[in-house]
Parts: sequence; structure tokens; C-alpha cells
Amino acid sequence: MKVSVKSPQELEKMRTAGKILAEVHQLLGDSLEAGMSTLEIDRLGEEMIRSYGCEPSFLHYMGYPASVCVSVNDEVVHGIPSDRRIIKEGDIVSLDIGVNFQGYHSDAARTHGIGKIPQEAKDLIEVTRGSFFQGMRFASAGRRLHDISAAIGAYASSRGYGVVRDLVGHGIGAHLHEEPEVPNFRKFTRGVRLREGMTLAVEPMINLGSRKVVWTEDEWTVVTEDGSLSAHYENTIVITAGRPEILTLTEEERRRLRLWEEKQKTDGR
Ligand code: MF3
Ligand code: CO
Repeated sequence: MKVSVKSPQELEKMRTAGKILAEVHQLLGDSLEAGMSTLEIDRLGEEMIRSYGCEPSFLHYMGYPASVCVSVNDEVVHGIPSDRRIIKEGDIVSLDIGVNFQGYHSDAARTHGIGKIPQEAKDLIEVTRGSFFQGMRFASAGRRLHDISAAIGAYASSRGYGVVRDLVGHGIGAHLHEEPEVPNFRKFTRGVRLREGMTLAVEPMINLGSRKVVWTEDEWTVVTEDGSLSAHYENTIVITAGRPEILTLTEEERRRLRLWEEKQKTDGR
């Protein structure tokens, strides 16, 4: 399998694409309010991306008609923005966004609660985020790709959640989707050996109920088969000799992560 290793120059462009995407997620996430249509969210996101001199990676990709995937409640991914879909208090809304900076892509997703949401929805969002960071413990040069996958899957499924198998993460760089596929569950193989400079989009999609999903008649929107809530958490990362470089975190998210890691250390003592 041909998994590309990026040059320092390529990585610089991806870092910029990542930093801009982190800011777009922050701004767009903060602007979500009950009463907005998912099309308004898309338009705002597209404006933000263009204001940084970047292109939305998703627009027209394989015919996708928008810049932001907006997936509400039981929608897992690839929700198509619409002026008839209004978000309301209590909803959970996944925003998946790609940014193209000078020919290099970043890809990241976050799930937000609108106003007050049920505790089970909060827990789902937290577990989805947590599963990503469990995977990161295995994301270093010399290890095997599917060890990341297994760690993500084990964390979420041991807590009783449905780990989506029909959609996977991916390599990323000059193309939005590159090799390898990055599953979120244990495979029978251990996957390619990770090398410094490989760039991946790791993206657990986790359901409150069954892991089964179905494609709707618009041919994009994927929903849970049982109608249960679904959350998505994705970052673009660079494999290094040590801990992965996570390109699509805001400063605030980095701070939160450092605190959490400190706490893990003290708890483990
Ligand atoms: N982040 C999504 C993925 O990696 C990209 C959405 S596909 C698009 O699958 F067509 F909407 F761009
Ligand atoms: Co992706």
C-alpha cells in the first residue's frame, strides 16, 4: 500500500490549513443557535473559510453540494445543509469541515449541543471525543495503524456505544481522501506501519444505540438505523516519533488536553 510521507514544506501548508480550520470550527461552533437553518450554518462556514483565503474542500467533492456537512441528531455524517432544516434546543449538531490551503487539506469534525441537551447526549459527545484520544496513544512512528483503530473501538464499545463500521477515516494531504483507510474498530490485520510524516484524518463516529447505519434517499446523508443519536469527532494529525501532532485543535482545546493529560498522569501514580 502506498501511504505517502509528507515533506516539511507540505507539512507547513497542512499546519496552516489545520490552524485555520480549528479557528473556523471555534467561530462556527460558537455561532450555533436554535432557530438557524443548516443552510445558514453552511453559508457562515463557507464565508469564514474564504475569509482566510482558503477554499472549502468539500464543495463539489464527488458532487457534494455544500462546504460544511451538518448532521443533526440521528444523522451520522454528510448531512446536506437545507433552508428547511431548522436546529432547535436539545439537538446535537455535528459539523464536519475541510479546508484547502494552497492545495493542501485539513479535515475535522465536532459535535455540539444546542442549548440544554440530555445527559445521555453529553456523554455520547464526550465518549466520542475520548475515543479519538485513546487512539492517539497508539499514533506514533513504528506502531501499526490498526492499533489506533482497535483502541478507539474498544473504548467506545466497552461503554456500550455503537461504533460505526461502514465509514472510516483516511489519509489526507494534497487530496482530501488518501490511503490508508483508518477504521474505528479492531481488524484482523494490524495495518500499515506508521512512519514520521504520514498525515491522517482520524474520525470516530459513535452511536448511542446500534452501530448500524443507512444511507438516505439524498444519497449523502447517513443516519442510524435505529434512530438513536450519533456523534462525530475528527482531527487531522501528523505521525511523529513521539506524540502525534494534532493540526486541527484550537489553543483552548490544546490547553484542555494538557490539563487532561496532567490529570491522567497524577491518577496513574
Ligand atoms: N470529512 C468527510 C470524510 O472524510 C468528508 C465529507 S465528504 C464530502 O468523509 F463529500 F462531503 F466532502
Ligand atoms: Co474525514
